[in-house]
Amino acid sequence: MKAVVYTRYGPPDVLRLTDVQTPVPKDDEVLVQVHAVSLNATDWEGLQGQPLYSRIGGPFRPRHHILGSDIAGRVEAAGRNATRFRPGEDVFADILSHMGGFAESVCVPETALARMPAGMTYEEAAALPQAGAIALQGIRDKGQLRPGQKVLINGAGGGSGMYAIQLAKLNGAEVTGVDNSEKLEFMRSLGADHVIDYTREDFTRNGRTYHLILDLAAYRPAFAYKSSLMPGGRYLYVGGSVATLLQVLLIGPLIGRAEGKKIRLLAVRQGAQHLAPIVELCQAGKVATVIDRRYRLNEVPEALRYLGDGHAKGKVVVILE
Ligand SMILES: NC(=O)c1ccc[n+]([C@@H]2O[C@H](COP(=O)([O-])OP(=O)(O)OC[C@H]3O[C@@H](n4cnc5c(N)ncnc54)[C@H](OP(=O)(O)O)[C@@H]3O)[C@@H](O)[C@H]2O)c1
Repeated sequence: MKAVVYTRYGPPDVLRLTDVQTPVPKDDEVLVQVHAVSLNATDWEGLQGQPLYSRIGGPFRPRHHILGSDIAGRVEAAGRNATRFRPGEDVFADILSHMGGFAESVCVPETALARMPAGMTYEEAAALPQAGAIALQGIRDKGQLRPGQKVLINGAGGGSGMYAIQLAKLNGAEVTGVDNSEKLEFMRSLGADHVIDYTREDFTRNGRTYHLILDLAAYRPAFAYKSSLMPGGRYLYVGGSVATLLQVLLIGPLIGRAEGKKIRLLAVRQGAQHLAPIVELCQAGKVATVIDRRYRLNEVPEALRYLGDGHAKGKVVVILE
């Protein structure tokens, strides 16, 4: 089969479209023919080997040689103990811990798979898993955002932010989206009440405060976020620098404790099975999936460059149909 392979960290030029052995499913795995795979910041980070957390399991060379984690496609075959899916069924999955989606076929643990929601296209189903889970858990499950509250979403013009803005508005919140100048209009179109260009304004220094800060691009010292939280407010680190991550983990629980402010990591539970609430909202037409660009498998390097250079508004999807 064809796959986009890399063996060392680096820019998109290190990726090669090449022929590799079609994988054989283990007992508890399902072989899926990939019809669409969406790009995430984690693919860009895994390609570059930066931030350092993207090198877990592969400090010097990539652990997985094929990137791509959010897939939608059709079951081709199943291992001996994988009995929930039959060949020909349409499925989708988040395979962040296995990767391998930038290929014509991929083996997926049966537990990571879910049937494709009725009425959804392959590209919509591929767009949802990681970004949808971050938004759902960041805004509702862990964010506990309530009607009338104020939320700031940092990095809101990308994949997760696209869903997070819409979920926050559906929850009746007042939403501030932060991203670069190219994405301000896009965030407004999704429903953001206020937008901030991070290249011109530092939201931690403008005196405004929020009940919830969902941080998809955390590069500041953890202390900086405290003054942007209302008493009782919560800050959730999703992605960003390792220095900020360590501070959030080590001193986050202490910062702001006196005022009931919570500074925490959002450790996202993966798996298409956790997505039911957002799937229903998509099916009902209440949440839209915005696909900025579509690419073919041989264009994965170009697609990753577009995402990594910060142009993508919403999702970028590779189509293999
Ligand atoms: N915690 C977990 O369990 C977990 C699980 C999966 C993924 N993640 C993390 O989730 C993060 C977000 O993923 P995503 O797919 O939504 O990424 P994305 O689509 O690339 O969106 C991130 C957005 O943040 C913007 N940005 C970059 N630097 C910024 C800054 N300093 N201030 C404000 N905005 C900034 C980017 O724009 P420009 O760069 O173009 O300016 C981009 O629009 C990734 O870092 C990933 O590692 C975490």
